[in-house]
Amino acid sequence: MTKKLSEYGQWALVTGGSQGIGYGFAERCAADGLNVALVARREEILNESAQQLRDQYGVEVRTLALDCTKPEAFDQIAEFVSDVHIDVLVNNVAFSFPGEFVEFKMSSIEKCINVNVVLTTKMSRHFGQLMKQKGKGALINVSSLTGEVAMPYFALYSATKACVSTLTQSIWFEMKDHGVDVLVIKPDQTATEGFMAMNPDVLEEFGLQTVEECVEESLKSLGKEPACMTQPMTRDHINKTRAMPLGEAIVQNGTYMKKMFTQQLETV
Ligand SMILES: NC(=O)c1ccc[n+]([C@@H]2O[C@H](COP(=O)([O-])OP(=O)(O)OC[C@H]3O[C@@H](n4cnc5c(N)ncnc54)[C@H](OP(=O)(O)O)[C@@H]3O)[C@@H](O)[C@H]2O)c1
Repeated sequence: MTKKLSEYGQWALVTGGSQGIGYGFAERCAADGLNVALVARREEILNESAQQLRDQYGVEVRTLALDCTKPEAFDQIAEFVSDVHIDVLVNNVAFSFPGEFVEFKMSSIEKCINVNVVLTTKMSRHFGQLMKQKGKGALINVSSLTGEVAMPYFALYSATKACVSTLTQSIWFEMKDHGVDVLVIKPDQTATEGFMAMNPDVLEEFGLQTVEECVEESLKSLGKEPACMTQPMTRDHINKTRAMPLGEAIVQNGTYMKKMFTQQLETV
């Protein structure tokens, strides 16, 4: 049995909430009766998603069209919801790109760290503190299974996700006695537009998870565990990989990722 998210309060904030896993969480919040604040870049899709939630669940939905890779993103999001208390926060937005690390553009590196690390950290601190003061709340950070082990050709993304996972797992303990449920989720192979654009070849090997399954699996851990690997198939794979000698595991991952991104190893 998962908790009804309305037990936390009245408002949810979801970054990257117009599509994919973010929209899945937004929909689950709306279905449980929470009003929802959504952040994403493309205004048209954002507005369509917001309207869908209003029509289907009768909740209040507000939107902010914003590129979260920008350094000012945190201030703009904080201002956007400054008149309400955020009871459920889903830090979902991320920036990822494959390739050889030394060929990355410095501007892409900066964007990736800005959104995956700086924004996620500031959001966790700001809204986490407000939840602590209220003595209630849910803070859900979306990481990735790639953050569990070294991931050649996805080096920076996986490193930023390792940061999100470690940070969130530590906060889980600190917040336990303040009534705030903290959870990091580590999805993989979830059928979203972002994932499908990567490489459809990998899908057969581990099988795909739907967004709904990813969200439901995550919520089973909320209030109980610090972390959730959402995809059972890849969960087993990663556990086996972690049991291997490190060098062997990295060679295995690197070989796999190189094959996966063969078509996409362009400089970004
Ligand atoms: N799907 C998977 O298998 C998988 C696996 C591991 C981890 N994850 C993690 O899960 C999260 C969501 O991934 P997803 O697969 O659901 O992605 P997705 O289908 O591409 O959806 C991404 C969402 O974020 C928004 N977004 C993207 N870049 C943004 C930016 N710079 N500023 C503001 N909004 C932005 C998108 O809208 P706009 O494009 O209009 O901005 C969209 O609403 C990410 O943290 C990702 O790292 C996913």
